[in-house]
Amino acid sequence: MVKIAPSILSADFANLERDIQRISTADYVHVDVMDGMFVPNITIGIPVVKSLRPTTTLPMDVHLMIVQPVRYVEQFCDAGADLVTVHVESDTAENIHAAIDKIHAKGKKAGIVLKPKTPAEAALPYLEKVELILVMTVEPGFGGQKFMADMMPKVSTIRAWIDEKNPDCELEVDGGVDPETCKVCIAAGANVLVAGSAVYKAEDIPARIAALRG
Ligand code: DX5
Ligand code: ZN
Repeated sequence: MVKIAPSILSADFANLERDIQRISTADYVHVDVMDGMFVPNITIGIPVVKSLRPTTTLPMDVHLMIVQPVRYVEQFCDAGADLVTVHVESDTAENIHAAIDKIHAKGKKAGIVLKPKTPAEAALPYLEKVELILVMTVEPGFGGQKFMADMMPKVSTIRAWIDEKNPDCELEVDGGVDPETCKVCIAAGANVLVAGSAVYKAEDIPARIAALRG
């Protein structure tokens, strides 16, 4: 079954607890962490993850858009993240491997993320050691951008590799996912869909989450 991970980047930051309760029929809470260096925007960090942890029983999917995430992954795990994803572009391969190992040592799930211009092949060194691969369908940094349908071949390629080499690995897409664009993502083989504005701009959030399942 397709899983939905609403991004709280599109929630009301003055009412995060309320807005997390509004997505209780979803499968993950997607938390976008930005440092103003890896991406040209600054959002939220460790104290917010820690404060949100007791407000939901949903697993927290923490998407780190920060330089050298190896410096902080343990703190995000301790704050209550269940899954931590790091961008392959954000450090050397050695440090990305080290970040994944640190997340696993904390007993949490680890994932890698590919920006739109990063080829599918960049996932290969990590394919057999991660629990999730995230393919960005917008340039990371902001919610509400246009979905990049030209990322679908990359999703299909990675789906084939996952099925062959690590069938339990999840395949997530993030950016511009709505009740229309979700269909091609699912057809290409994604099984976790992040959606920010499509969820939080909806009149009926549970109905919108159901619609995004395709
Ligand atoms: C973008 C973030 C996304 C974003 C998605 O850098 O990683 O998670 O919040 O927002 P929508 O669904 O509005 O494109
Ligand atoms: Zn994200």
